[in-house]
Amino acid sequence: MTDGPLPTYRIATIPGDGVGPDVVGAARRVLEAAATSFGFGFDWFEITAGGIGIDTYGVAIRAEDVGAAGAADAILLGAVGGPRWDDPNAAVRPEQALFALRGGLELFANLRPVRVHPSLVPSSPLRPELLEGVDLLIVRELTSGLYFGRPSEERATADGRVAIDTLWYTEAEIRRVVRLAFELARDRRGKLTSVDKANVLATSRLWRKVVEEERPAFPEVEVGHQLVDSCAMLLVKQPAAFDVLVTENLFGDILSDEASVLAGSLGMLPSASLGERRTAHGRFGLYEPIHGSAPDIAGRDLANPLATILSAAMLLRWSLGQEPAARAIEDAVGLTLDDGYRTRDLVPTATDAGGLRVVGTAGMTDAVIARLGGGPAGQRPAGTASGPDTADDEAMATIIAADTLLGLP
Ligand code: IPM
Ligand code: MG
Repeated sequence: MTDGPLPTYRIATIPGDGVGPDVVGAARRVLEAAATSFGFGFDWFEITAGGIGIDTYGVAIRAEDVGAAGAADAILLGAVGGPRWDDPNAAVRPEQALFALRGGLELFANLRPVRVHPSLVPSSPLRPELLEGVDLLIVRELTSGLYFGRPSEERATADGRVAIDTLWYTEAEIRRVVRLAFELARDRRGKLTSVDKANVLATSRLWRKVVEEERPAFPEVEVGHQLVDSCAMLLVKQPAAFDVLVTENLFGDILSDEASVLAGSLGMLPSASLGERRTAHGRFGLYEPIHGSAPDIAGRDLANPLATILSAAMLLRWSLGQEPAARAIEDAVGLTLDDGYRTRDLVPTATDAGGLRVVGTAGMTDAVIARLGGGPAGQRPAGTASGPDTADDEAMATIIAADTLLGLP
């Protein structure tokens, strides 16, 4: 160990709306615990954005806050939106905060890994044999396509109202995300599926051409093209066949929610949004769960914090170069699930699910922290069987059969 000051990372948190503050608070606690174990520190600052940004400033996010977030080492975001700001005629919408951050900071590649934790197999409605070996990564283009194309508006015409959205991609926008997907595939199992709708869309045909142009630079990667409709089917029919998928913005949005069913819950899927900018420690990025703001359960200690905790692990890996700490968090999440901890969204519907410890946001977070290895704090000795621990006491976890929880006979 050197005697110098501990490395300190500057992180912008954007809790946002609904369960956003619950899950960001949870992930922040896990990051602090990891920092203590692994010998680094955080300098946090919070940005008000989303629906709460509209309430506070009249805009989803202020330009100066996008700038401040962009100057940090990384951003940790919860969720934005809710019924209070859902007026379809409103000019300001909470989601504009996301687009200002993604577009404004050029975070063009959204990485959405989907893994099936073995003990969550019963939480998925899919048959267990389909889930065996599922480990895929969706690389979603994030700063172009229908989300950013202009015009995008409703017009009054002599024939009644007309609405238009614009699907637009430049070659350069396609190339940079496709290249990153090739690199990621090369470092994984060497299989890349490019997803498009080339039988209908001009943007998809350009997408295919660019993928083919990049293919020779990555001879070790096996590339296939898949139409998005059949890809949607194959994702549930044979999900283990996929390694890396790369696709345009809207297709990636839709396929990633579909893929979350494999992992047992939308509450399990993390994401990293990356651009070209490097910091002193790694690649600048924005990290957020793929789930929404779930206003009905906000502030009630019910939200599953694991997607955001796993996003925090991605933050450590990609933006801070702290791979061992990232791995420790992912392992702790795995142990927590193995030990039977479940938030409500993870409780299987099957009646033979056996004994589970149903906990809230805080209880799940405590359980993860208690299982965080790698340093003096809260380490569980290797090989120790699961059993009562402080997290159990603190969370007052109830050992409860899933069928009791669901009120089944
Ligand atoms: C996501 C979300 C957002 C998106 C919404 C909230 C605008 O669904 O990150 O997947 O469509 O990109
Ligand atoms: Mg989505």
